[in-house]
Amino acid sequence: MASLVQLALVFGGFLAVRSWLAVSSANTARVAAALSMLEQALGDDARLLEVQRWLEREWGGRVRLTRVDGTPLSQSPDAPPEFDAETLARVLAGERVEDGDLVSAALPAQAPRLLVRLEFAPVLLPRQVLGGFSVLGLAALAWVLTRTVAQPVRRMVVMAERLASGDLSARTGLTRRDELGALATALDALGGRLQQARLSEQELLANVSHELRTPLARIRVALELAEAGDAEAARDSLRSISTDLGELQQLLDDVFTVARLSTAGGSASLTLRPVHVPLSALLTRVAQRFVELWPTHHLELRDAAGAPMVCVDPVLLRRAVDNLVDNAAKYSDDGTTVRLSVRRRDALLELVVEDQGCGVPPAELGRVFTPFFRGEHVRARGTGGVGLGLTLARRIVEAHGGTLRLESDGVRGTTVRLTLQAL
Ligand SMILES: Nc1ncnc2c1ncn2[C@@H]1O[C@H](COP(=O)(O)OP(=O)(O)OP(=O)(O)O)[C@@H](O)[C@H]1O
Ligand SMILES: [Mg+2]
Repeated sequence: MASLVQLALVFGGFLAVRSWLAVSSANTARVAAALSMLEQALGDDARLLEVQRWLEREWGGRVRLTRVDGTPLSQSPDAPPEFDAETLARVLAGERVEDGDLVSAALPAQAPRLLVRLEFAPVLLPRQVLGGFSVLGLAALAWVLTRTVAQPVRRMVVMAERLASGDLSARTGLTRRDELGALATALDALGGRLQQARLSEQELLANVSHELRTPLARIRVALELAEAGDAEAARDSLRSISTDLGELQQLLDDVFTVARLSTAGGSASLTLRPVHVPLSALLTRVAQRFVELWPTHHLELRDAAGAPMVCVDPVLLRRAVDNLVDNAAKYSDDGTTVRLSVRRRDALLELVVEDQGCGVPPAELGRVFTPFFRGEHVRARGTGGVGLGLTLARRIVEAHGGTLRLESDGVRGTTVRLTLQAL
């Protein structure tokens, strides 16, 4: 765009110079023609007067004719002033003297008989007037183009360069309703997303390193005990090391899966391996695991037998549902029931997990799907956990094109609804 503006300016400049040359060459031609006409009329005063009138009438000329002995011959009403001594000497020496528009000469130049001073108003031919307007028009166009196109584009380029150099706070700050405005808004949104992604990445790293620290510290203590103590202490230490390693493994697995399931514009970077499976079989396995892991709770599996076939990644979807039923058990008292039911709603399958636990306070409802978020009240229960279960479950479900929502009044338990497309 800048080069377009430069081109317009160069072209405008060319027209300006051309107009100026045309104007000055037109005047030069008139002076030459006038002197020649006067020279041809020399010796015939009446003819000289006729030429003078013609020059006045046709070309707007102002003429002063003086005989070489200094006596005036004729002059226009607003004729140029009389010769000053210096100009007179120069014209008598055969020179043509030009002072702005005023031209002084002696005729004939070699043997002067007549002294002439004449002046023409500047010539503005229609062509030149047009040229002048084109220059102005082009200059205005260049100005408008610069303001409306080149400047915003330059701002976007600067913004993109700042983004590329790592300054993710860069924004164009443009608010326009045209295509350039749409482009600027898209660029600003891109900047926002990049900045958000970097913040999440930093937060994730901080959280992961924080969560790794505790089991690693416990492992170190256990190893030191084993080193210093007897065989009994060493066996105990090995057991707790094994538990901590299990926790570490789980944490790393979860972080890894969450990271790979990060949805960018709806597409997950982790490839799902969907297969057709009966939902009932998948839920039965969830129930078996639950019974082994949570003997303190009852599981009520409703309507699973009639559940249809689904096309899902069975490993990932089971992981999501396991997390939901684990939460239901973790955050409810021993002896209570966790209900897992399936319903068909038109083209959707709805899987519902209900518990009779402590519920989620309204203030925390909006944050439970944030990585590493753990509720204030559940920390006190000492159940363990890092706050990745729901994040993971939602990403898995969304990668399948489904939705995951959590409802709770903060007092009487929690209901989590998972929907999937039915086949
Ligand atoms: N069924 C539930 N009842 C009460 N609170 C819940 C329930 N499910 C989730 N929450 C709240 O949401 C928070 C986030 O749940 P999430 O499953 O992501 O993490 P977590 O259970 O704390 O840890 P993790 O699942 O990583 O072991 C929990 O800490 C808790 O505050
Ligand atoms: Mg959980």
